[in-house]
Amino acid sequence: MNGAPTLDEIVALDAANVMQTYGRAQVAFVRGEGTILYDAAGTRYLDFLSGLAVTSLGHAHPVVADAIAEQARTLLHVSNLYYNALQPQVAEKLNALLGGDGRVFFCNSGAEANECAIKLARRYGQTHGGPERFHVLSAYGSFHGRTLTTLAATGQPQKQETFQPLPEGFRQVLFADVDALAAAMDERVCAVMLEPVQGEGGVQPSPPGYLEAVRALCDEREALLIMDEVQTGLGRTGAWFGFQHSDVRPDVVTMAKALGNGVPIGACWARADVATAFRPGDHATTFGGQPLAASAALATLQVMEAEDVPARAAAAGARLTEALLAVPEVVAVRGAGLLIAAELAPGLDAKVVADECLACGLVLNAVTPTALRLAPPLLVTDAEIAEAVAVLAGVLAAAGGAEGGAVQ
Ligand SMILES: Cc1ncc(COP(=O)(O)O)c(C=O)c1O
Repeated sequence: MNGAPTLDEIVALDAANVMQTYGRAQVAFVRGEGTILYDAAGTRYLDFLSGLAVTSLGHAHPVVADAIAEQARTLLHVSNLYYNALQPQVAEKLNALLGGDGRVFFCNSGAEANECAIKLARRYGQTHGGPERFHVLSAYGSFHGRTLTTLAATGQPQKQETFQPLPEGFRQVLFADVDALAAAMDERVCAVMLEPVQGEGGVQPSPPGYLEAVRALCDEREALLIMDEVQTGLGRTGAWFGFQHSDVRPDVVTMAKALGNGVPIGACWARADVATAFRPGDHATTFGGQPLAASAALATLQVMEAEDVPARAAAAGARLTEALLAVPEVVAVRGAGLLIAAELAPGLDAKVVADECLACGLVLNAVTPTALRLAPPLLVTDAEIAEAVAVLAGVLAAAGGAEGGAVQ
């Protein structure tokens, strides 16, 4: 290949060499700045997906970029056999955002953060209820990851089917149904694991009072409450963490996506007395909290605090919701802050609409067959919101017309 490869060349090289586990869109991005992405041909796109709620500060944020570059020239990695100065600083910040009196374990992804939470809950359950207390309850429609254990916790049977047998001790109940949870909460349950807003399950927020009722059940039956904030955490929903829209305080909180603004890093926070259920040697990962990832996280958190991203997300989310509701083919909008699903009028296929938006320079995705997910950077401007909604409205108007009045 001479010069930059074309899209066709990239697709062919990918097909011949990369495991084909993804259904990728027909584009390869090469550069980004803030909410804007560019492909190899120099075509400009508005990024209203943020790499699946990851680049919350936008692409190539200068403070994060400088921190990474400086750290890369200084020290990338030493392993967790040794201390590094950055890791406890990130933990201290997370601890403060989560109300203090906790401890953090660092890893590299959302699935690993949840894996840590599950192992910790089992360890805690053993010491507080005996060897039979290892079951984890989660909700249908949830998504907790693709490792075998987090897949077992994920309430989507179609994703589990081909990988049986999965680890035992996982059961799902209907989301937002307190009675169903109460009926399943026997003495074998060490933890309940929930997302405050189900992200991959279609951007489904917890109804008012649900998390409080779950907390009360967990207290009554001596089970831990694990909040999976991998998608919702760090300002995305208009609060630092999604559960903070309720009155509950979880025992364990997991996060990943936005923590490094694109540099892989995950974290599992636990109440201090729960965290001490882990003894040295119980859990580990080679890369977790390494200087490079920790420097990205520290810079990301510093910018997030300086910009007050939860408030920005809440205000921008309200404006985006209002603009979407004014589009005739959008029949409902749900979510929190800047994690939003736009439900399309009957007859419209969200995947087709998302593909057409991409062709028109707007990145978003179909989170269900009938709904689009919008999760732009939390620093998105009003002008970018207006531009994105105008693109979407144009695509929907054309799709509605083309489908011969299928829109109702
Ligand atoms: C709520 C939630 N938990 C866990 C995960 C898994 O994270 P990762 O893909 O980083 O393993 C995701 C990913 O989308 C998620 O949305």
